[in-house]
Amino acid sequence: MKIFHLISSPRGEASVSTKLSNAIVEKLMQASIGSRITTRNLATQPFPQLKASHITSFFTPADQLTPELEEAARNSEEAIAQLMDSDVIVIGAPMYNFTIHTALKSWIDHIVRANKTFAFTENGAQGFITGKKMYIGISSGGVFTEGPFKPYDFAEPYLRFIFSFIGITDITIYRAQGLSVPGIGETALQKAIDSIVI
Ligand SMILES: Cc1cc2nc3c(=O)[nH]c(=O)nc-3n(C[C@H](O)[C@H](O)[C@H](O)COP(=O)(O)O)c2cc1C
Repeated sequence: MKIFHLISSPRGEASVSTKLSNAIVEKLMQASIGSRITTRNLATQPFPQLKASHITSFFTPADQLTPELEEAARNSEEAIAQLMDSDVIVIGAPMYNFTIHTALKSWIDHIVRANKTFAFTENGAQGFITGKKMYIGISSGGVFTEGPFKPYDFAEPYLRFIFSFIGITDITIYRAQGLSVPGIGETALQKAIDSIVI
């Protein structure tokens, strides 16, 4: 089994989402001895925010790419190849300002590409990254799965939508939430880790 682990918190070893995604990876490794794991830390190895040259490269046929446009498309081509080559994708995703961190959004902007990872067909939108299993560990100061802030969670619904849009529909999400809430925060990470079922 080929596991791809994507880290998106800028907080290094202090990161709760990384601790949670690490725990998911560990349990996957225990369940499938001999698995190969590749890790990409988007805080230390970020993808660039989309510039005009990236967008032009995405919409230029491969046989018409200039060396500059080929270079502009390189990040995207590598990220998509990496995704295609994985069986299981594990993502650590902190909530910042009610959604995902920009590092993760920038990576998403390089992998969601018309006619490459999705297309609009006569039957509607069709994703091409199929046959994958995804686990996401989300950390947040507040509680979002229930209560008054539930409508303001723009992390989990977005992640579920955008990955299913490109064909990754088998998604399991674990949440270390309420980290800033006294009485909840102290045990939130351990509870999330204990709930992981592979
Ligand atoms: C800049 C910033 C913005 C944050 N925004 C939110 C937020 O909108 N909602 C929330 O519940 N927690 C918020 N938090 C708390 C983080 O979600 C929490 O600290 C979490 O552990 C961050 O993940 P990490 O430890 O993997 O970096 C924010 C924290 C920071 C530093």
